[in-house]
Amino acid sequence: MSGIDYSEKIPNNVNLANDRTLQRALEHWQPHFIDWWQHLGPSDFQRADVYLRTATSVDADGWATYGAVKMPDYRWGIFLADPVAERKIGFGDNMGQPAWQQVPGEHRSTLRRLIVTQGDTEPASVEQQRLLGHTCPSLYDLRNLFQVNVEEGRHLWAMVYLLHAYFGRDGREEAEELLARHSGDADKPRILSTFNEPVSDWLSFFCFTYFTDRDGKYQLKSLAESAFDPLSRTCRFMLTEEAHHMFVGETGIGRVVKRTLEVMKELGAEDSTRIRAAGAVDLPLLQKYLNFWCSSSLDLFGSEISSNAASSFANGLKGRPDESQYEDHVLRNVSLKLDTPQGAQEVPLLNALNEVMRESYLKDCEIGLKRWNRQIERAGYALRLSLPSTRFRRSIGSWVGLPVDPQGRLLSREEYDKRLTEWVPSETDRAFVRSLMQRVVEPGKMAGWVAPPERGINNLPVEYEYVKLS
Ligand SMILES: [Fe+2]
Ligand SMILES: [Fe+2]
Repeated sequence: MSGIDYSEKIPNNVNLANDRTLQRALEHWQPHFIDWWQHLGPSDFQRADVYLRTATSVDADGWATYGAVKMPDYRWGIFLADPVAERKIGFGDNMGQPAWQQVPGEHRSTLRRLIVTQGDTEPASVEQQRLLGHTCPSLYDLRNLFQVNVEEGRHLWAMVYLLHAYFGRDGREEAEELLARHSGDADKPRILSTFNEPVSDWLSFFCFTYFTDRDGKYQLKSLAESAFDPLSRTCRFMLTEEAHHMFVGETGIGRVVKRTLEVMKELGAEDSTRIRAAGAVDLPLLQKYLNFWCSSSLDLFGSEISSNAASSFANGLKGRPDESQYEDHVLRNVSLKLDTPQGAQEVPLLNALNEVMRESYLKDCEIGLKRWNRQIERAGYALRLSLPSTRFRRSIGSWVGLPVDPQGRLLSREEYDKRLTEWVPSETDRAFVRSLMQRVVEPGKMAGWVAPPERGINNLPVEYEYVKLS
């Protein structure tokens, strides 16, 4: 792979051509990335022509181009949002001081950990989703899957750029490790447990892009506030792409609801057995998938009481999403009442920032729920979809491992174990969902369990051949 002109081959707005050392470091990493993509990226579609969006600048009016690309030829670029002139630190104990253009020595290892943890999720999700192409419900969906995948690849580039450019040899080693850990690997798993869960069916994929990519949005929003300016600028641009991933989730679940309601109407029945026999996802089953992925994603925010969160905030490394919407940006001498199994507990707000973030995330999650419930209501059915309590199925924090139902009620261990498959998919449920996953690749055709989208990509019709397979 030598001899590649990186200033040409990697679209970038970071002046790569003028930094020979950085260029060489990325030159060394790039073939490893391609090798990873070939082996752990989407299985079997590397030669297909996919109608993809590629970031080419950070211009708000036209930051991307669209066109047919073979995925290994995708031009993974490095883009930082435009600098804000004389940007100041917006929160924490150093508030008002100039933002950092270099990494301060005392925050080096924490910043590196934050970047590595974020970076690790990007290739992890590509690995989790690598087999989905085989069972796509339509070419439109197949294209959306690959769009998400290549952009997660670009997000990995974004983090690797920071590691290479600002963290010297440690950063280069971390960049290699990002390709060495693999989702679900027994010896070298990905850092966060949600990113080791297989995403083996499209209902899970829609839930993943709805809940887990939205966690990504909130992490990126909080890193976009960082005093470390290159990190802030990187994350601000990543958010532009991230919006599409959540769109895939929200419209995907909405289309499942729509199709199910059609089937319910045709059958004149709400009975799950009959809906399943007709090849659709009954709403209680969808609710179980929502419970599973929402609770799993809630863990990503960490413990509700966290001294790491407090010091990251106080030091200016990681703010709250949309920090400017708050009045107090220092948070000394304020507290928050937290609901723990031992009763209400007053905690310094600085230590409860993971919880603050989790709450704003949940508010954002509610938006889709409202929309889907409106569809159900309009169709004349009483059932409503809901989000599980934040105490349900926690594997971190004060509610860890407790037998709590999705409404947040503490149960006996025995009752919880007996009823768990009422709330999350059972093996039978998963097997049924797998049985629905039949590949549909005729342009404009949809699998029977999901309604067509309202419109196509980039003003093209839904019937457009978004992926040319041969
Ligand atoms: Fe991402
Ligand atoms: Fe994403």
